[in-house]
Amino acid sequence: MPKTRSVWQDTRTFFPIFFDLLKTRGLTSVCVIGASDGKFVLPLARRGIRVVAIEQDPRALHGGPVTLPGPVETTMPGLRKRLTAEGLTDLVQVVQADLLGLAEGMNPVDAVWTSCSWHYSRNHARPLADFITVMNNLCRPRGGILGAEYMMPVEPRHLSIEHYPPEGHVRRFFPGWTINWETYTPPFVEAPHVDQLAEHIHRMGLIIATRP
Ligand SMILES: C[S@@+](CC[C@H](N)C(=O)[O-])C[C@H]1O[C@@H](n2cnc3c(N)ncnc32)[C@H](O)[C@@H]1O
Repeated sequence: MPKTRSVWQDTRTFFPIFFDLLKTRGLTSVCVIGASDGKFVLPLARRGIRVVAIEQDPRALHGGPVTLPGPVETTMPGLRKRLTAEGLTDLVQVVQADLLGLAEGMNPVDAVWTSCSWHYSRNHARPLADFITVMNNLCRPRGGILGAEYMMPVEPRHLSIEHYPPEGHVRRFFPGWTINWETYTPPFVEAPHVDQLAEHIHRMGLIIATRP
């Protein structure tokens, strides 16, 4: 039983599909982009996988006050304290940075994962292609895999923002890659969670692709 819990723990995810592929292929290093407080980082590290966790939000990394549904005012421990509590610091490199500002020179990893990160408004000033290109370059050539789940348009305002891609849009950013999975949920009701304290509608897409 895990000792610690992410504030995002109960939101819906396609992650088990990505995780199964990692295990099948015996991949051992993963970069999580928009790692937040470690919802995906810790399950990977608990399996002995080396993780690079990229996140720009200091509260997600170092902890701080947070409002959870209820509303409940509490303190989130953040990624670093969770890693320490579970004895996983040696397996995880935490990088506090904006993905779009990352300098060249990070070592490529076997696999890259991101969950609902690129639609954040901080990324809208740059084309979606920029965000995905940085991710793609972190993925090692010849067999590295990239998994991205993302928000799809469900409100009129989303239709004019390319960071909420509709069906079939994302694969154009993976020329020459093998597409392993491309799927979508219907619109669904997401329970209240951190940052969205009322029930709301989401629609999510998933792409998993292998780099040539
Ligand atoms: C929806 S949250 C993560 C929740 C997710 N279910 C999880 O725990 O992985 C997305 C995260 O992506 C981060 N993020 C968005 N754009 C980013 C960027 N350009 N660079 C680094 N982190 C980013 C946000 O700060 C946020 O913590």
